[in-house]
Amino acid sequence: MRVGVPRETAAGEKRVALVPEVVRKLTGQEHEVVVEAGAGQAALIPDGLFEEAGARIAADAGDVWSADVVVKVAPPSGEEIGRLSSDSVLIGFLQPLTAPDTARALADAGATAFALEAVPRISRAQSMDALSSQSNVAGYRAALLGAQLLGRFYPMLMTAAGTIRPAKVLVLGAGVAGLQAIATAKRLGAAVTGYDVRSAVAEQVQSLGATFLELEAGRGAEGEGGYARELTDEEKAAQQRELTDAITGFDVVITTALVPGRPAPKLVTADAVERMKPGAVVVDLAGEAGGNCELSEPGETVVRHDVTIAAPLNVPSTMAEHASQLYARNILALLELVTGEDNALSLDFDDEIVAGACVTRGGEIVHEGAKKAAGVTA
Ligand SMILES: NC(=O)c1ccc[n+]([C@@H]2O[C@H](COP(=O)([O-])OP(=O)(O)OC[C@H]3O[C@@H](n4cnc5c(N)ncnc54)[C@H](O)[C@@H]3O)[C@@H](O)[C@H]2O)c1
Repeated sequence: MRVGVPRETAAGEKRVALVPEVVRKLTGQEHEVVVEAGAGQAALIPDGLFEEAGARIAADAGDVWSADVVVKVAPPSGEEIGRLSSDSVLIGFLQPLTAPDTARALADAGATAFALEAVPRISRAQSMDALSSQSNVAGYRAALLGAQLLGRFYPMLMTAAGTIRPAKVLVLGAGVAGLQAIATAKRLGAAVTGYDVRSAVAEQVQSLGATFLELEAGRGAEGEGGYARELTDEEKAAQQRELTDAITGFDVVITTALVPGRPAPKLVTADAVERMKPGAVVVDLAGEAGGNCELSEPGETVVRHDVTIAAPLNVPSTMAEHASQLYARNILALLELVTGEDNALSLDFDDEIVAGACVTRGGEIVHEGAKKAAGVTA
């Protein structure tokens, strides 16, 4: 099987889909790997390291896009999709629930495309769970960003000049990113509280040494597949009221709340920001889905009512080396699943991971959520 690794072209994308360590494994299994010249440059991985691992460096992007399987990080542009043929297989983040144009264009190209976001979250697929690997990076980074933007210490300090009380950090949304933000803020010595609408999470928050914030509104809002469901309008309003009171006592609020395919819930209202202490910080990790804070400006850091509100986009890309390393291991696990005994590509659509992750095939959008987003009727 020939695996192609293009250079990422999306603005600000520094990650690369494979790293030399994973290339070495693939070439060791007699696969051919073609890496576009400069593909690892933004992650500070020179072409020479890919070559040492057994890859061929291609100056021509066409050489990479004609591989049996093209592996990418960011969704492909229209131009990139134009390079795919009807026997191409593409693996990457494709935003199946929110980028219907990408799904339509991939179907029109006749490509078989797999979205990492759509890999079912079952135990057997954990090694392929790129949402989790990248959320871990984002959660870690968010806790550090909060510490950096706060003009105070995170830990308690007992010094000759007296005692400094620890910073109070609240993490809203305790999925993979939130739990990592909690763990990281704890390690830095902050007094951490976590909150989520999924009741099952309370124990996980507490096991990290943090306090769980209990609210009445939206409690137990478990949805399908272990995700939260979107709250009703009444629940949202009640949750905002309760949270507005709770938020005011914290120095740093890190928000990570998401419902797949839906706009991010607005958990931190403008009123809550106004009532926060001067110098407090909000780090909003939900910027790509519109933000969890009403005053967030996705991609920007702004100061409102003396509160710094950062809503960075594509946070995993800011740690491109480790983010790429984890992502590449997720891709390797998926490639191993679709490799047949003869070392050729073998797609078994009876396998729930292969079927679940497939977004387009045979000229059609086949993923239910992507179909709905693209307005395809049965
Ligand atoms: N392979 C696996 O089995 C596997 C791997 C990773 C995660 N998971 C599960 O997937 C689920 C979601 O994880 P994720 O990190 O991808 O989540 P996510 O990034 O989709 O959402 C982040 C968090 O926001 C929370 N949230 C949504 N709406 C909210 C609201 N109005 N108020 C407060 N919080 C809100 C969600 O409950 C979730 O915990 C969890 O059940 C997790 O255990 C399973």
